[in-house]
Amino acid sequence: MVGEVQLVRAPEILETDRLRLRRPLMEDAAVIFAQYAQDQDVTRYLTWRPHRTIEETYEFLRDCPAGWEAGKLFQWGIVRKQDGQFLGMIAVRVDGHKWELGYVLARTYWGNGYMTEAVKGVIDWALKQPGIYRVWAVCDIENAASARVLEKAGMEREGLLRRWSIHPNVSDEPRDSYCYAITKGC
Ligand SMILES: CC(C)(COP(=O)(O)OP(=O)(O)OC[C@H]1O[C@@H](n2cnc3c(N)ncnc32)[C@H](O)[C@@H]1OP(=O)(O)O)[C@@H](O)C(=O)NCCC(=O)NCCS
Repeated sequence: MVGEVQLVRAPEILETDRLRLRRPLMEDAAVIFAQYAQDQDVTRYLTWRPHRTIEETYEFLRDCPAGWEAGKLFQWGIVRKQDGQFLGMIAVRVDGHKWELGYVLARTYWGNGYMTEAVKGVIDWALKQPGIYRVWAVCDIENAASARVLEKAGMEREGLLRRWSIHPNVSDEPRDSYCYAITKGC
């Protein structure tokens, strides 16, 4: 298939051993706000500022369905199967055959391998699809935990993207990021 963009529909539910990824709901606002959206440590290397009120969380959730409908931005809530706890979110931004990953986890759940498991779940599904050839992500050069997640999920560090992203909780100037990717075998 050359030159033709295939529209891929992401699954509304993706399961891994311990996790269920599902579309976020307006009812998730309270837990998202309380658990991480207002947390300065969690949001340090993200592209958005911590939420000051739950209204900002509602606003974010109100926008999620549009990304799904357009096939451009798929966001999943990460739920622990064992007890239904909402742990965080993972998202993919679609650009033709390329899927770019982003993710966030509430601080209480860090260090248990959850995000590596979620990232692997998305990669495994994505690279089985005929229209997806590359799953990639960037992370701030100081975000060692995120770089480690991407490595553990089987991605390769492709290089350094200088002055790539603005992480407003660190600086108003664009910062250097590492670029990681995994691709479909040729
Ligand atoms: C990055 C993040 C998603 C990791 O989630 P997690 O579920 O804790 O990740 P995992 O447990 O799967 O793996 C984390 C790895 O990073 C390592 N790590 C954690 N902090 C680290 C640090 N400061 N320096 C080096 N390695 C670190 C852990 O030891 C672990 O590696 P290991 O299994 O080899 O020991 C989580 O910390 C988070 O939500 N951070 C804030 C949001 C964010 O930065 N998102 C990514 C934007 S690019």
